[in-house]
Amino acid sequence: MGRHPARRRELRGLAILVPGPGKAIPNNTHFDTTRANVEFSGAEAVDLVIEEGRHPSVIHPFKGNMDLAALEAFIVERGVESVPLVMVTVTNNSGGGQPVSLENLRGVRAICDRYGLPLFLDACRFAENAWFIKQREPGYAHRAIPEIVREMAALADGMTMSAKKDAIANIGGWLALNDDAWAEAARNLLILTEGFPTYGGLAGRDLEAIAQGLREVIDEDYLRYRIRSTAYLGEALVEAGIPCVQPIGGHAVYLDAGSLLSHLEPLQYPGQALAVALYREGGIRGCEIGSVMFGRHPDGSETPANMELVRLAIPRRVYTQSHVDYVIEVVRWVAERAAQLPGYRIVSQPPQLRHFTARFETIA
Ligand SMILES: Cc1ncc(COP(=O)(O)O)c(C=O)c1O
Repeated sequence: MGRHPARRRELRGLAILVPGPGKAIPNNTHFDTTRANVEFSGAEAVDLVIEEGRHPSVIHPFKGNMDLAALEAFIVERGVESVPLVMVTVTNNSGGGQPVSLENLRGVRAICDRYGLPLFLDACRFAENAWFIKQREPGYAHRAIPEIVREMAALADGMTMSAKKDAIANIGGWLALNDDAWAEAARNLLILTEGFPTYGGLAGRDLEAIAQGLREVIDEDYLRYRIRSTAYLGEALVEAGIPCVQPIGGHAVYLDAGSLLSHLEPLQYPGQALAVALYREGGIRGCEIGSVMFGRHPDGSETPANMELVRLAIPRRVYTQSHVDYVIEVVRWVAERAAQLPGYRIVSQPPQLRHFTARFETIA
């Protein structure tokens, strides 16, 4: 006998929130914490970004796009029952801060509709994504950013959001669900694991900062300045012959440590080696996005990640051009000595999200 429709929707809500063993979530590329949460529930996190998005030097206007053929084949092969939802990360942080086109999002939506699946955005950088659509997607040059954002959002059934990113706030985030039964399931889970929704969460001042940040982040002058200042850093490094993910992403420049430190094997962690050197030489705090972050699987085995990158993420409204010029000088200095940088091995690590707390030593 079929279940009552409301109960069916509530069960779908639970599968969205805690997918569990036997389930798989496709995404263009899962961000690290998103991946870890999927895997911690026992489900599999599957990355299906287009081929261009897997090669740092290949130029493509929307390198964050989902491979639509691969997505459909995956759903058919695994079976719809095993796929609680499809996610798209805008912009694609672990793939180089690369945007996703509206044409591609519509393609994902059409596949989701064909198989009755919800589509969620990991929307941390929705405004930067909208800016790239305005700049690069045919037909959008004269559209206002809020309109483009609405068009992106209208394609989705839900979103996850870290307010530290495109809500320009210092803390917080949210899960938005366009379905009352799913929201009910989320609230019930919250009561079970944390407390009633009004017990904690964000203070009033933080909510107001988020509301103001959301107004400011879609301002075209702000977005032009933001994206241009990231490109300024990236272009200077590319001009100096330093391999970077191209085109330059929205919120960060991604150094291609795999190419720059080609004397190291991926599992000697070239990205970690470069990140350590940048910090030691110039106090520049970047982040490895490579085999330290993504190389270890839930069963403990280890394989190289797709790319070995170091992300130089640029905080909003913090640095001046002279700060960035200093970063350029330090990166150039370290890059000239890259061939002498040692590899690393891991001395101790937790089972999940090891890049936050693992301890390393150099390989002699
Ligand atoms: C796409 C994406 N999703 C999720 C997160 C995690 O956000 P938080 O640190 O607020 O949990 C990030 C952080 O950089 C991100 O870029």
